[in-house]
Amino acid sequence: MKTPNKINLAVTPTPIETVSFQNKKFLMKRDDLTGAELSGNKVRKLEYLMAEACKEKTDLVMTCGGIQSNHARATTIAACKAGLKSKLFLWGSESSVPDGNHFLNIIYGADIVYLTKREFENVNDIMQAERKILSRKMKTAYIIPEGGSTTKGIYGYISFVSEIKKQINIDELNGIVVACGSGGTAAGILAGLSYYKSDLKVYAINVLYEEHEMRRKILNLAQAAILEFKFNCRLRNENLIILDGYSKEGYKSINKDKLKLIKNFAKETGILLDPVYTGKAFKAFNDKFLMKGKGMKNIFLHTGGIFGVFGRTDEYLNT
Ligand SMILES: Cc1ncc(COP(=O)(O)O)c(C=O)c1O
Repeated sequence: MKTPNKINLAVTPTPIETVSFQNKKFLMKRDDLTGAELSGNKVRKLEYLMAEACKEKTDLVMTCGGIQSNHARATTIAACKAGLKSKLFLWGSESSVPDGNHFLNIIYGADIVYLTKREFENVNDIMQAERKILSRKMKTAYIIPEGGSTTKGIYGYISFVSEIKKQINIDELNGIVVACGSGGTAAGILAGLSYYKSDLKVYAINVLYEEHEMRRKILNLAQAAILEFKFNCRLRNENLIILDGYSKEGYKSINKDKLKLIKNFAKETGILLDPVYTGKAFKAFNDKFLMKGKGMKNIFLHTGGIFGVFGRTDEYLNT
């Protein structure tokens, strides 16, 4: 087995808490507590990606995402910590009063290029072209694709499986529930569980891609990691279950029912969920497991996203 290098960015292990909501208990793995400015799931991936960027002695780290991308913000801050400059290609427009993650990107000094939705479809080509321009100026750039979901990046969630195995007996559980954007977090967990020959199910809530596309991305990435890191195991693809239909309102939107659930959950537990990922995933967890009394057999993975809330204050206030 090959283990990639990492730099320390995340506060780990994150706790597994027993949370009580509407008189029902469940398990929550608090990856929203991987740090303060650097919080959420992206930090585990960036530990490995930034190690590679530093090893390559790159001048600049480039990445992409929505205007409120947690990944882009985490990359900017991780780059600051690693002494690197960052350039972001964001789907959205400049604002006179930037908020949430967008605001943080600006104050941490990221160079931002704003793209329309259509332009963003070619964001990988745009980043490659930018790298070529830089190389003519004798500068190098390390490109981190959407969500940090490369095989190196998702090693963060392969090692996450070792972490939870030390905290809880996963053989006594049914599954882990996780919000999926690029799918790297779920892919890392599935590869890690396959490595340990565990039959814990991975319930993935697709917030961005269609069900079949999400499944394809997660399985391809998990399989590629198994090959790259030379794991002696088979990918347990039958243990990936996509819980579809929880982001029908669209990636950048959230419906009123889910916002009400987020607010009630916050008031009762003190834990804040975000409007793009964890709020939608929690709705699925609530419907499929918690309301059916299966909360203690399934872990809800809180992947963070707190700054995204501050990009949606109007909706939170008016619901
Ligand atoms: C808060 C939060 N949860 C979940 C995800 C999804 O992670 P992944 O892209 O690894 O599927 C993201 C991705 O941006 C996120 O910011």
